[in-house]
Amino acid sequence: MEEIKIMINIPENKRNVPSLLTCIDGTEVKTAQDWINKRRPEILEMLRREEYGRLPDMSDVEIKIQVTAVRQGPKIMNGRAVRKTVEVEAVRKERHFIFTFDVFIPADAKEPVPAFVEICNRGPMNCDPARENLSSFYPAETIISRGYACAAFRTHEVAPDYEEGFKTGFHRLFPDYVDNRPDDAWGTITVWAWAASRVMDYFEMEPMIDAAKVAVVGHSRGGKTALWCGAQDERFAMAISSCSGNSGDAISRGKTGESIAQILDRFPFWFAKNYQKYANNEEAMPFDQHFLIALMAPRLVYTSTKTNDSWADPVSEFESLVQADPVYQLFGLEGLEQREFSLPEQPLHNGHIGHHHKTGEHNMDDYDWDQYMDYADRHMK
Ligand code: GCU
Repeated sequence: MEEIKIMINIPENKRNVPSLLTCIDGTEVKTAQDWINKRRPEILEMLRREEYGRLPDMSDVEIKIQVTAVRQGPKIMNGRAVRKTVEVEAVRKERHFIFTFDVFIPADAKEPVPAFVEICNRGPMNCDPARENLSSFYPAETIISRGYACAAFRTHEVAPDYEEGFKTGFHRLFPDYVDNRPDDAWGTITVWAWAASRVMDYFEMEPMIDAAKVAVVGHSRGGKTALWCGAQDERFAMAISSCSGNSGDAISRGKTGESIAQILDRFPFWFAKNYQKYANNEEAMPFDQHFLIALMAPRLVYTSTKTNDSWADPVSEFESLVQADPVYQLFGLEGLEQREFSLPEQPLHNGHIGHHHKTGEHNMDDYDWDQYMDYADRHMK
């Protein structure tokens, strides 16, 4: 068989990040098949073991997903959406854990629609299922008006966002891990990502949602989670990160703003214990955050950042996209359309790696959502 040679245009490696295309055993990735069969699985394993942590054995966990309420009529978005309340129950050895989320589906949909899953790391005011509190963090009315369905779950309901010894929420299913926690055991980000996958389980059962066209979206810690969810769960067509910064979309080596030592000082429970090895020791990491971005290939990945978010560090956020681009080239796809740092209010929407940089503070707002939907209209719809 004739070998197809792909010329990969490797970007300049100013930060000395590990190569995506060199396997642990030193062999080079030359084709998309090499990536899929060898390099991708070893990178996924590396990020599980060294950074975010792996889930426990879930084979004895029974998961039940059921719609507990369906509402339609003038009180639900003036009749423009159907709202379904969904309960996810996980049971293990007579221990229960439940979280719920609400889904809005355009009432006038004639065929299954694409959808967004929002990982809501803010309070209920920002993702209110009753829609009394409207927030540009989750503009569900606009999403519906553009022909998408959407669902948001609250991270706090899934696993607490504070140090509590891995005892409540999802963690309560696994008391065996409380006093005996392996260095590669899951951090909270992994559990939130697991929850987003359960929303996808429901989408696969919902006849009015096109589960092949779903994006997982999150901001900041939610953005780190969205990328990690999309990396692991290949059912998602797209992952969208807003201002996820350290341990999200930003390269750690040479990063300004938040460092690994600083994130671990305040939020050690987000990660596997193994990640502690890299505090003030980034050069020792066999990976960097472009590995996380590249795990989305050949699917769509989109990141956004704000000019004043120096804690997240827009330059390092952009650099991870530049460094991930060669993996898209392996698939013969356009990844990132330019390597020069992006200018504010000039979205990059041509490639499979989308990005925008907006004037403003650390936040996810209407402008960001308009860009996400413009990009999804073009590439996912
Ligand atoms: C803190 C944390 C960041 C995180 C952010 C957020 O600032 O240091 O890593 O992204 O919270 O979730 O808003």
